[in-house]
Amino acid sequence: MSQVINDDKIPNNVHLADDKKLQRALEAWQPNYINWWKEMGPVGFQEDDVYLRTAISVESDGWANFDYVKMPDYRWGIFLADPVKDRTIACGDDYGKPVWQQVPGEHRNTLRRLIVTQGDTEPASVEQQRLLGQTCPSVYDLRNLFQVNVEEGRHLWAMVFLLHSHFGRDGREEAEALLERRSGDANKPRLLGAFNEPCTDWLSFFMFTFFTDRDGKYQLLALAESAFDPLSRTTRFMLTEEAHHMFVGETGVLRVVDRTSSQMKAHNVEDLDKVRALGLIDLPTMQKYLNLWFTLSLDLFGGEISSNAASYFASGIKGRAKEASHEDHIALNGTYGFDQFKDGKKVHEDVPLRNAMNEVLRDEYVEDCQRGVDKWNRTIAANGIQFQLKLPSRRFHRHVGIYSGMCFDTDGNPIDAATFAAKQDAWLPTDADKAYVKSLQQKPVYDPKQMANWIGAPKQGIKGRPVDFEYVRHEV
Ligand SMILES: [Fe+2]
Ligand SMILES: [Fe+2]
Repeated sequence: MSQVINDDKIPNNVHLADDKKLQRALEAWQPNYINWWKEMGPVGFQEDDVYLRTAISVESDGWANFDYVKMPDYRWGIFLADPVKDRTIACGDDYGKPVWQQVPGEHRNTLRRLIVTQGDTEPASVEQQRLLGQTCPSVYDLRNLFQVNVEEGRHLWAMVFLLHSHFGRDGREEAEALLERRSGDANKPRLLGAFNEPCTDWLSFFMFTFFTDRDGKYQLLALAESAFDPLSRTTRFMLTEEAHHMFVGETGVLRVVDRTSSQMKAHNVEDLDKVRALGLIDLPTMQKYLNLWFTLSLDLFGGEISSNAASYFASGIKGRAKEASHEDHIALNGTYGFDQFKDGKKVHEDVPLRNAMNEVLRDEYVEDCQRGVDKWNRTIAANGIQFQLKLPSRRFHRHVGIYSGMCFDTDGNPIDAATFAAKQDAWLPTDADKAYVKSLQQKPVYDPKQMANWIGAPKQGIKGRPVDFEYVRHEV
């Protein structure tokens, strides 16, 4: 099953050639996709050879090939993880029954909406990042950006395959619409908030790939538990690629904090102005970017108390991350406690566990984020600087769920709107902060031997190549 047919127009391991109608539909969508890529993908590098990995199999070792390719020629394909023999529904009311190979009529709209929502994030992030190549801190980073971009494109293919193969005409219409919405466009925005935010500097890019791609990881983990088996198999393979995106974010931020803190020590400076005078991104500004992208990403999990989440779980459409690691897969008896704020007063409320499934997923996400933050802090400490980055309270700066519409400080204490307004500039990037970060990223670094001043070099290159390898052959 995992054998890939690579000489087709569309590489795949789903025996596409056996289903002529589906093959024709996808081959008709393909040129529209390429047009979208050329119009909305990375600006200024479409003719360059880029050292990219391409999925060629779903085997855990040797699933990818690394070579130079021009991005519009990337072999975007359809890859599903191998089926799990006799797989049964992982959670909910039908726990233990056989999984679905076709979409049950009663779940058709829900599944389509979930697939479209996931699919919409993939091209959205490519659009958000399309100008970043022109200010890259190194050729190594430039290549990583493009790797993330082409794989988000492939994730769009993954969702479009499901839409075309299981949702008939409405699926095909949704697949077209996925190429028509545009990140940040007031008239035809992408579906989710964080995917309409500008991501036009590299600090935002690293925060995005750390925090927002990690939301993607948790959504994919939950969908990998789906009773709709093709969705489970698709998302399981997407997770393989997703790991690299979060690596780019984690090591990107790490290299910035390492560079800043080591230079602070070397020059014996602590004041923000003096740190900035060295052309570095000061740590308080890093904290503000962290606050912004963490909270935007928290919103992507949806409301804390959600009847939709309960019904996805009940029907087996969406599980928890690594459902098998939980004991009770029915979750009818448990409760989940929240601190709510009513008229400024804290009230504790227990809700049925099924209604809190978004929050259960968010808990695991926050824990995973904390692991990365701890690593960053160890690096700052190892450089002899007293400063700790911190995840803000999940009540802070929320626009979705029970804490939206209220103001909290970064520790989660309720405050009034005037206090929030007065403190906001200390918590979230100001226009001046953004302008400063951008001022460091005016000129791209296209010489493989060089690295921008504000970021440290990575520990190693890609796939055994040296850090200063010519990962992108770009004629200036
Ligand atoms: Fe993705
Ligand atoms: Fe991603």
